[in-house]
Amino acid sequence: MDKMVTFFANGNEIKAKEGEILLRALLENGIEVPHFCYHDALGVDGNCRMCMVEIEGFKRPQVSCDTEVQEGMVVRTMGANINEVKRSILELELINHPVDCPICDQAGECKLQDYYMQTGLYDSRLTTQKVHKNKHIDLGSSVMLDQERCVLCARCSRFTSNITKTGELGIMGRGDHSYLGTMPNKKLDNPYAMNVVDLCPVGALTSRDFRFKQRVWFLKSADSICQECEKGCNITIDHTQEKYKEDVIYRFKPRANKSVNGYFMCDFGRLSYKKQSENRQEEFLISGEKSESFEVLNKLKNLLDLNKGTVSILISPSCSLEEMMAVKLLAKRYEAEVFCDLDLYLEGKDDDFLIKAQKASNKKGTELLGINSGDYKKNSLIININHKKIIKENGLIVEFLTHKKENNAYLVLPIAYFTEQKGSAINSDGYIQRMEKAITKENMTLLEIIQAVLEEEISFDLIWQELQKIDQLNGISWDKIGKTGIKVL
Ligand code: SF4
Ligand code: FES
Repeated sequence: MDKMVTFFANGNEIKAKEGEILLRALLENGIEVPHFCYHDALGVDGNCRMCMVEIEGFKRPQVSCDTEVQEGMVVRTMGANINEVKRSILELELINHPVDCPICDQAGECKLQDYYMQTGLYDSRLTTQKVHKNKHIDLGSSVMLDQERCVLCARCSRFTSNITKTGELGIMGRGDHSYLGTMPNKKLDNPYAMNVVDLCPVGALTSRDFRFKQRVWFLKSADSICQECEKGCNITIDHTQEKYKEDVIYRFKPRANKSVNGYFMCDFGRLSYKKQSENRQEEFLISGEKSESFEVLNKLKNLLDLNKGTVSILISPSCSLEEMMAVKLLAKRYEAEVFCDLDLYLEGKDDDFLIKAQKASNKKGTELLGINSGDYKKNSLIININHKKIIKENGLIVEFLTHKKENNAYLVLPIAYFTEQKGSAINSDGYIQRMEKAITKENMTLLEIIQAVLEEEISFDLIWQELQKIDQLNGISWDKIGKTGIKVL
């Protein structure tokens, strides 16, 4: 057990682990300390000097990111002296900064802008020209660099040196001509490159994909889980609905979860937000012809009644636990067998960071629910629930689809995507994690369709009562899963 110490900050008594970084202890206790170069994932670098605090017994202010908490320490982050120190350091940071917030894509989520506004340094005292640098560099991997806005905190270059170990970025030059960049003819090129955009505390690094599309203060966020592999990196889904328009997702961003993805996600998962609006299946079809939903649902019900006992259901192993349980209830009624064919979801290899070869986001869920992992059994009626397999054989085929795909189906039913409904999944580390509903679309959820077919209530709560009958989920509920998940396997 860690030894705890007590220290005081701005008159408040705080308990922290002995040896804890003072900056982290202050931030965790809600005491705001400006900082650029320190980041939990990258550790201490001590280059920006923004995190100065006063500590009793020390003649000069100390950098809190490079100071350990000690028993009885008395710290001040506010007051005339330390405020003056912070003002001076910030003025130094801003000497050559363009302060072009109105045209900067980071405005609204920029640390420098926040500190500048809090400190009130509105007019530059500089009488000479600012040093100008390149404002429009395509670094590669969809990352744009504005060198004038860079505060040289080295978070991004430390990310490529210490985390991806690809070393593309570095700080070159001297004095106020120092700049961030890549070596000549080299590009930022690794599967995690876009994380530097989140790490950059200012508007120096921006995402070419997101920039200039939406002001961040118009965005709403929902907590969710990336669906592109079984790692299940935690994300926020940033979206907004403009008047008379559809609710639109503008970006996925990684959400911190130390047990799963730390602070990061891969670029492939990050850009997968586009799937929300691309190539969606929106129409009910009978033999390829657009039909009314009630007609298709009636036909499906009749087919199930006629083929009871000889139905095979193939379900995507990326469906949520709730969807899988609803399908099991459907299968029980019609004496059907359920399969998930996991092999089709294997692509490439695991890397040594986050990316997994198994692309099914809920493979562990299929195992926990006892779903047969093989290919479907040929039967008189085959129902394919969003599985990527293309079923070519002739016969009675029904497809439930979030996205259009080649199919040979008699009936096609559009269903809601994970961003349009709440649900949960179990990741490769055995954590059950939850996805909030981010946007509203007209597509029925799989639960609603199964409820219509079974003609009995299949509510989210009822599904959870069924899930709780599984030993590992006993005592767990969607609410209890919380923001960072619960280890169940
Ligand atoms: Fe820091 Fe951003 Fe400059 Fe990189 S580009 S050194 S993260 S301010
Ligand atoms: Fe402490 Fe940069 S955060 S010196």
